Amino acid sequence: MNPVTATTASPVILADAASVPVNPVADAEPTPLVDARAQLAEAIELLGYGDGLHRMLATPRREMAVAVPLRRDSGETEVYLGYRVQHNFSRGPAKGGLRYAPNVNLDEVRALAMWMTWKCALLDVPYGGAKGGIAIDPRDHSVGELERVTRRYTSEILPIIGPERDIPAPDIGTDERTMAWMMDTYSVNSGYTVPGIVTGKPIALGGSLGRASATSRGVTHIALAALRHAGIEPGRATAAVQGFGKVGADAARFLAEGGVRVTAVSDQYGAIRNDAGLDIEALSDHVRATGSVVGFAGGDELDRDAVLTQDVDLLVPAAVEGVLHGGNAADVLAKVVVEGANGPTTPAADAILRERGVLVVPDILANAGGVIVSYFEWVQANQAYWWRVDEVESRLEERMLNAWRHVLGYAEARDLSLRTAATALAVERVAEAHRLRGLYP
Ligand SMILES: NC(=O)c1ccc[n+]([C@@H]2O[C@H](COP(=O)([O-])OP(=O)(O)OC[C@H]3O[C@@H](n4cnc5c(N)ncnc54)[C@H](O)[C@@H]3O)[C@@H](O)[C@H]2O)c1
Repeated sequence: MNPVTATTASPVILADAASVPVNPVADAEPTPLVDARAQLAEAIELLGYGDGLHRMLATPRREMAVAVPLRRDSGETEVYLGYRVQHNFSRGPAKGGLRYAPNVNLDEVRALAMWMTWKCALLDVPYGGAKGGIAIDPRDHSVGELERVTRRYTSEILPIIGPERDIPAPDIGTDERTMAWMMDTYSVNSGYTVPGIVTGKPIALGGSLGRASATSRGVTHIALAALRHAGIEPGRATAAVQGFGKVGADAARFLAEGGVRVTAVSDQYGAIRNDAGLDIEALSDHVRATGSVVGFAGGDELDRDAVLTQDVDLLVPAAVEGVLHGGNAADVLAKVVVEGANGPTTPAADAILRERGVLVVPDILANAGGVIVSYFEWVQANQAYWWRVDEVESRLEERMLNAWRHVLGYAEARDLSLRTAATALAVERVAEAHRLRGLYP
């Protein structure tokens, strides 16, 4: 991504409510925001809500776009664009990840923030949704440069974040080290340590035991339940996992521990396959050593995107948005799709998969383990009292499976897809909170 050359101070952009289409344009390009709005529109119609409430829920409460100047190790200055979008506060402070990727843009961040609102409401954690990002490729930067970018971005968005306002967490391209820098920058500016400002921190700084693997554990709880629901015994099941990062790698490991034969995985560089089952531990060692799944001796090379159309029982997309679309959904052979990533399935793909009888468990349910344990981390940090890992993991499992049963029951009673059911349940909860609080003034 080319950095911009501007060096001006950060503009604050207010969402233009009038520009938010209540009904998405039918032939709009499939982007995450178009998809997210289409899903909201479907839920609004199902719930019988009016246009005013629809506009409220389609429009982020607050958006900030900032310039992030970076002094590179070479001495040159570059400027990157950063964003923070707070979609909703009706149920509590905003909560959501921070993404470093070259293609980050305001519309993508808006979509991800909206999905966070639904996820928090669905899992009944007391937050609204937010998301942030910087259009930067972290692989092009030294650790020192990433630290300076993170501290400058944190300083720019400082007025709108805080443990009672908006609590960031890791997402694509960021990790616990990024969260430590954010926490330190916020704390230095406050004059005292504020561990509740971010989640996904290192354990030594007040992070929660079990947070790093929470999203993947949650994906696995849901995947095993969904397989059984589809009549497939996990011990006889096969799986393909797209993405071998924080979510995908541990999801593959936990699935294998749960008896599922993981036969194909991919990352942004390529894919590998072994019909006898990949040795996930050995593969993780290979990725730690080389940075990619490519070249792993325990499998054969596969075309990168062929991971999506493997003849397996379970497909876990755990990389980026929009990978299952109108052009490839008919080729998906899996019987169950469990969304580790946010927004991997476009509405066009959703319709095709439903028609073909594929069970799709939506992101706002399947990958909610991360925000659940983020909530546990925030509670622990605010109370300065830390839980044992078995307490964290059993509470995580209980919440995930309760939400699974709730969504399944709602969907079956009304003959809805799991996504429509989950979105409608979540939208209903946010609308209820909004109604009870009333519209100020
Ligand atoms: N980290 C969390 O706790 C969390 C929680 C909920 C949802 N998510 C979502 O899960 C997804 C992955 O996040 P992460 O934290 O694991 O990020 P990450 O940066 O740790 O890993 C991303 C992985 O996806 C791979 N990838 C990127 N493009 C790809 C492509 N086109 N094909 C195949 N692989 C590709 C990368 O090589 C990497 O292996 C994102 O959608 C994120 O929003 C993450």
